[in-house]
Amino acid sequence: MSASNDVTYGEYLAVERLLQLQLPRSRPEHPDELLFIVVHQASELWFKVLLHELDLLVARLEASDAMAALASMRRINAITRIVATQLSSLDTLPPQRFAEFRGYLGSASGGQSVQFRAIEAASGLRDDHFLAVLREHGPIPDAIQRILDRPTLQALFMDLLAARGTTLDAVYANPSITDLYFLAESLIEYEQGFGLWRFLHMQLVERIIGPMTSGTGGTLGSKYLQRTLSQRFFPKLWEVRSRFFGTGSAMSPNSA
Ligand code: HEM
Repeated sequence: MSASNDVTYGEYLAVERLLQLQLPRSRPEHPDELLFIVVHQASELWFKVLLHELDLLVARLEASDAMAALASMRRINAITRIVATQLSSLDTLPPQRFAEFRGYLGSASGGQSVQFRAIEAASGLRDDHFLAVLREHGPIPDAIQRILDRPTLQALFMDLLAARGTTLDAVYANPSITDLYFLAESLIEYEQGFGLWRFLHMQLVERIIGPMTSGTGGTLGSKYLQRTLSQRFFPKLWEVRSRFFGTGSAMSPNSA
């Protein structure tokens, strides 16, 4: 690899261009609109990295490389935590001040975020409700269709277990198969982290526009968001737990 020394910080990161991309629409400009735009843009940048890392994770799962997949999951989980916690900066936006510039957003809504939907699809959502939400904004974008056509993370993880000659129940019954156990747990952690974003975002919405106000995207606002909280990327990883408490299959923890 060749390295070039004659590049500055600003050039390498395209800082000048980056800082020209915040374009408040309120007139006169509302002092809180910059924060509103930056939190969204920063989230979209992190979504870009998440999608990149999810692609890598898929390749590592397909290669049955559990340790490399685990490394991917550590990064994915760290980024998911960042995306969730940065929402708190918008908790400082009082409702009456948001009302002063909300009209300038028109029908723009986070519900139109293609990258967010791509992350949901890459992680494993395929149910009818999700597909209906996807089609709401016209034909499904190619970038998302490509992801829908590949297996879910859960399916890839199950394939990995099969390739290693084991099952989910056996992994949980026998913690000595540690890499697969920790990979399963890191997937659960991802689901929790993503769920935390959903919850914090829903609360943010209630805190700013209230529980009864419709969204700019035309949904029932926080009522719509509440419904999304129950979506699951890895239902099998949640189900396996109940089997140790006699509420699932007849399997006992020691039977595998
Ligand atoms: C003042 C702050 C915010 C308010 C009031 C707000 C409001 C809403 C509402 C009402 C919805 C439901 C769809 C609709 O009818 O518009 C929604 C969806 C969404 N918003 Fe926000 N939002 C805020 C901040 C953010 C931020 C910072 C992000 C970061 C990217 C974001 C991303 C999303 C996404 C991805 C959805 C789709 C969620 C889903 O369908 O599960 N929102 N938002």
